[in-house]
Amino acid sequence: MELSLLSLKENLKKSLKSNTFYLAVLSSPIQKDETKKISVRPIETKSGLLYQISEQRAEKIFHRNVTASELSIFLFDEKASNFKQAIFFTEDADYQLLRRQKGKETLLKKKPSKGKTLPLHNRQKNYLLPEGEPIDFLIRLGIMNKEGQVFPKKVDKFRQINRYLEIVDDTLSELPNDRELNILDFGCGKSYLTFALYHYLKEIKNVSAKLTGLDLKKDVIDFCNGLAKELGYHKLSFEVGNIEGFAPESSPDMVICLHACDTATDAALENAVRWRAKVILAVPCCQHELFNQVEQPLLSSLLRHGILRERFAALVTDAARADILESLGYHCQIIEFIDLEHTPKNLLIKAIRTKDVQTSLTSDNISSKKILSAKERYQAFSQTLNIRPSLETRFKL
Ligand SMILES: C[S@@+](CC[C@H](N)C(=O)[O-])C[C@H]1O[C@@H](n2cnc3c(N)ncnc32)[C@H](O)[C@@H]1O
Repeated sequence: MELSLLSLKENLKKSLKSNTFYLAVLSSPIQKDETKKISVRPIETKSGLLYQISEQRAEKIFHRNVTASELSIFLFDEKASNFKQAIFFTEDADYQLLRRQKGKETLLKKKPSKGKTLPLHNRQKNYLLPEGEPIDFLIRLGIMNKEGQVFPKKVDKFRQINRYLEIVDDTLSELPNDRELNILDFGCGKSYLTFALYHYLKEIKNVSAKLTGLDLKKDVIDFCNGLAKELGYHKLSFEVGNIEGFAPESSPDMVICLHACDTATDAALENAVRWRAKVILAVPCCQHELFNQVEQPLLSSLLRHGILRERFAALVTDAARADILESLGYHCQIIEFIDLEHTPKNLLIKAIRTKDVQTSLTSDNISSKKILSAKERYQAFSQTLNIRPSLETRFKL
């Protein structure tokens, strides 16, 4: 069905007002200026519902968040007339605006195609990074093509990135919001997740943050620094260094350590606790340490099988880490993380600092009771299984 340009504007303004505007894509520019494509989608931010405009200029995508009325002006008064094609998806209808020659417009109203499947904001959409929208670092890291389509072989990685961002997103309310955040990513490797976090905080959440990635491998760090520079990620940098004994310029608010092998995770946890990081996220990997230590005659049916012993020892390691962190004043959860190798290494330790242990042990409040019961629980657990893990030794518990 055809309709007039005026009624299109009215309908779109109404859908913006009623929060039922889901997506807009403007493509094929008439004047070959810098902007090749524009997409707009609603996003949830700390200041409420906003609209994220993503403008593709040359190889780069620029994002900014605007209110409904700013978007209205941007779309209808500034931009819509400069594209041969504009599609608007709302709850009531899809609207397509086509300009075959300058001045001649066709406007079509179609049945809504995105109403229920493309919901109001990111969370409901499951993916915090949207599919189908080009994102610079994902293009450069070979996860998606320039049109924003995720390569079939990279779908798992894309899911992992999104799952990771969801986990981080859940911790943001724990962090200060009146200053720049300082985030440290230990054992960052090729840094898909580090780039994702930087992009998410800066471009989508509008959170001011400085991120530092650390790894032993110089070639990887050089690559990551080069990419951060190329993408204009000014507050993301990488250093060659060892987690063990690392001394940051200033104490981080959040320490991340994903898939660093064996006791490298414990070095990261130790640092984070000593720096009093508010949030710690760690995905342990290859926990060999307790394999030879764990002993309990009542569990001999389990421990006599190498593969069961190995898995059990890995679980024991994480359980011990959680108890030790709790006894040091953190609230700990162990949650599932998507691991690309689909091995038992898919657990993430999420720890939020609730109290400074030095003070809490002397006061008689709920936190200190929790800390004491974590200590007791850990002592019983470690004695029963005859273990003395790295994290315990590091804190001389
Ligand atoms: C399996 S990769 C994980 C990369 C990334 N964090 C991820 O999850 O995709 C582990 C990285 O940790 C680094 N690493 C291991 N031990 C380390 C240490 N003690 N100090 C710094 N980096 C370390 C390795 O060089 C490697 O790049």
